[in-house]
Amino acid sequence: MPENNMDKPKIVTCTAPVNIAVIKYWGKRNEELILPINSSLSVTLHQDQLKTTTTVATSRSFQEDRIWLNGKEEDITHPRLQSCLREIRRLARKRRNDGDPSLDSTGLSHKVHICSVNNFPTAAGLASSAAGFACLVYTLARVFGVEGELSGIARQGSGSACRSMYGGFVQWIMGEKEDGKDSLAQQVEPQTHWPELRILVVVASAERKPVGSTSGMQTSVRTSCLLKHRAQSVVPERMVEMIDAVRRKDFPAFAELTMKDSNQFHATCLDTYPPIFYLSRVSHQVISLVHRYNKHYGETRVAYTFDAGPNAVIFTLEQHVPEFVQAVQHFFPPDTNGEDFIKGLPVSHAALSEELKRGIGLEPMAKGINYIISTKAGPGPCVVEDPTQHLLLSDGLPKKTM
Ligand code: DP6
Repeated sequence: MPENNMDKPKIVTCTAPVNIAVIKYWGKRNEELILPINSSLSVTLHQDQLKTTTTVATSRSFQEDRIWLNGKEEDITHPRLQSCLREIRRLARKRRNDGDPSLDSTGLSHKVHICSVNNFPTAAGLASSAAGFACLVYTLARVFGVEGELSGIARQGSGSACRSMYGGFVQWIMGEKEDGKDSLAQQVEPQTHWPELRILVVVASAERKPVGSTSGMQTSVRTSCLLKHRAQSVVPERMVEMIDAVRRKDFPAFAELTMKDSNQFHATCLDTYPPIFYLSRVSHQVISLVHRYNKHYGETRVAYTFDAGPNAVIFTLEQHVPEFVQAVQHFFPPDTNGEDFIKGLPVSHAALSEELKRGIGLEPMAKGINYIISTKAGPGPCVVEDPTQHLLLSDGLPKKTM
């Protein structure tokens, strides 16, 4: 083979989704392997609205492993990045040693260049590490010809990342083994299962930078007896009920469990010493709005959940989206005329009845919410076949347009 062909890099680009937990993961029993103290369940969000794109290139001519995140070169020695790289290379070597004839082993010793971007602002406060590590692991696996179960590797990048390895409704089974081999994600239902389900990411104007999940949950595990009770006595049963609600597409049951679990997670944060506050005044107002809206109709039409920050993620059914979005706009009057307030899936206009406004009866909070991203459940990681979409050029450096 001519020399320049040998030096030509192998380039693969993939995308991966964000997921939002409706039964929360909070607390590890093993920090290194990222093994949780309870199982969790999430909905994978659609990549048309929220995704990470990652390009990985390998070449004999690369001197070292390198990574660029959102246009900036970052430190490749980050321990969690190293875990993912090491595990994928280990699996690739294992396949080669087991004599898989389809495996092209020439690239195994080559260095990698990694380039990754999000199509959503970091300010949206969405756990970009989940989509990021899922995308990294999925793309590396393609480059090194590794197939099969990969969620156990994504988990070692960030716990919640293992759930982004599948589309639709996904559980992360905590497992029992010391080595974590049984702590894996599994699809409960595909994204086509519940087509009417809609998700609104409600981006609150942030007041401060919250405590990161990794250190927050460490303090909770050390100090909160409520967290211990939750993990041992609440979540196991709740997982069974949630899976059942999802399978039956029982919105009221799904919604109630989602809100209760979010509330209990934030209660464990308050029970942490010193306490952690993730919810803001705006978050509390969104919670009131949801409960008053549901009460007005005498049924559970809308649910909220909050992660380690003030943004709400709302679940509802397609038919209720226009009115509920209008209610959000009414009680959180935006800066703009509503033009940029709603991003993602189009939302048609609905009128709010005076009766509903009175029924909710909250004092409007101007500019409390920056915007809403309207989305639905979506698929797991995908390969991008179009080579013009690669984020790295054939010299292995990021495209200038980034
Ligand atoms: C509140 O997965 O970000 O979003 O495993 O330390 O990387 P590490 O934590 P991370 O924690 C996510 C916590 C959560 C709940 C959830 O997604 O289940």
